[in-house]
Amino acid sequence: MRMVDIIHKKRMGEALTEDEIRFVVNGTTDGSIPDYQLTALCMAIVFQSMNDEETALLTRYMAESGDQIDLSEFGDLSVDKHSTGGVGDKTTLILAPLVAACGGIVAKMSGRGLGHTGGTIDKLESIPGFQTKETIGMFLKQSREVGVTVVGQTKELAPADRRLYVLRDVTATVEAIPLIVSSIMSKKLAAGAHSIVLDVTVGSGAFMKTVEEATVLAEKMVTIGRACGRNMSALITNMDEPLGHAVGNALVVQEAIGVLKGEVQGDLKEVCLALAGEMLSLCLKIPPEKGRAMAEETLESGAAYKKFKEWITAQGGDVRFAEDPSLFPEAAFSRVIRSPKSGYIEKMNAERIGNVAGQLGAGRRQKGDDIDFAAGIYLYAKTGDHVKKGEPLAKLFTEHEESLDDAEAAYLDALSWSRKRPEPEPIVYKIIH
Ligand code: URA
Repeated sequence: MRMVDIIHKKRMGEALTEDEIRFVVNGTTDGSIPDYQLTALCMAIVFQSMNDEETALLTRYMAESGDQIDLSEFGDLSVDKHSTGGVGDKTTLILAPLVAACGGIVAKMSGRGLGHTGGTIDKLESIPGFQTKETIGMFLKQSREVGVTVVGQTKELAPADRRLYVLRDVTATVEAIPLIVSSIMSKKLAAGAHSIVLDVTVGSGAFMKTVEEATVLAEKMVTIGRACGRNMSALITNMDEPLGHAVGNALVVQEAIGVLKGEVQGDLKEVCLALAGEMLSLCLKIPPEKGRAMAEETLESGAAYKKFKEWITAQGGDVRFAEDPSLFPEAAFSRVIRSPKSGYIEKMNAERIGNVAGQLGAGRRQKGDDIDFAAGIYLYAKTGDHVKKGEPLAKLFTEHEESLDDAEAAYLDALSWSRKRPEPEPIVYKIIH
């Protein structure tokens, strides 16, 4: 078999056979197919797409390209959640202990920040001592004993995706539904959970810009997961403005603790309850409304916060930070941005706000860069709020004083204004069971 013929076939819009897809995935994993041929094939897929059968085969062979975690001892109780990315997203920090406190087993592998979006592992590492690398034996032991473990993805988890993703990121071939579906689902399938809830985000801070596009993506992922024997559902959620009020790493952990302690309400809590309802529905086999009510009670009783502290301790984190978030060190420099005018905030471009957080030091410029855990943004006002000229809009935090002027200008540029109160947008657009 020759890679050039496979590229030509896809370029002409023909479907690839199982043998051809297996050849591509094997050659991606063992390095025998060079970068230029892989990227040519990805570009052909961007233009000609893949049918459902090809996408399912690509996903399956990518999932099988490396380690596959065996969580079968937990049966359907093992439950995972995946978000397609966002700004200010801290749902895993809340959902993992919340669902575990309700009886689910959240044994999960999470990623680091990518582009303007943040990553759960970077956020967790802002808790002093917290370990995100564990042997598989420790991962399973902690999941049995505490019900919740969140670690970084190992190099051996879907290595074919790892190689392809890096190439797609720099060749403008990320945005193709078969490639996104196979990339996400190969990792989720290899990570082993029997029940999987997908949070497919839509809007200015997400890869998907319309509910229609997000629905197609979500339905394909749900279909593939089910075909591989997993319990699946997906929520299409709003990421047209940052989720909650904090963007960054330590700031985000502090806000998540606020939700767990019952001190923070609003969009973040709403999304978490909807996601928790679905996760509990799949893993405990109960109706989603019952799952949501159970999650609400567990938050209110303090049991989820107690489980959070147990989890942080089990992974080596200093639990005093969970008890008193004011212990997190503040960044050396901060600035309050004041409103240049009076009016309603009509829109907040979440991608641009994510990039401002990156400029302040909360993200990486290059692979392997260190991030500043204390850097980020606290949003005082969000879409639909009325602000008077001179009132605080947001506070910037950084270790680099020289970044503040540009960051302030870019933040203000990310907002649009209106004299009329904009119609509120739903937080959850739809649920695909
Ligand atoms: N997240 C992934 O893991 N893969 C993609 O292709 C897009 C988002």
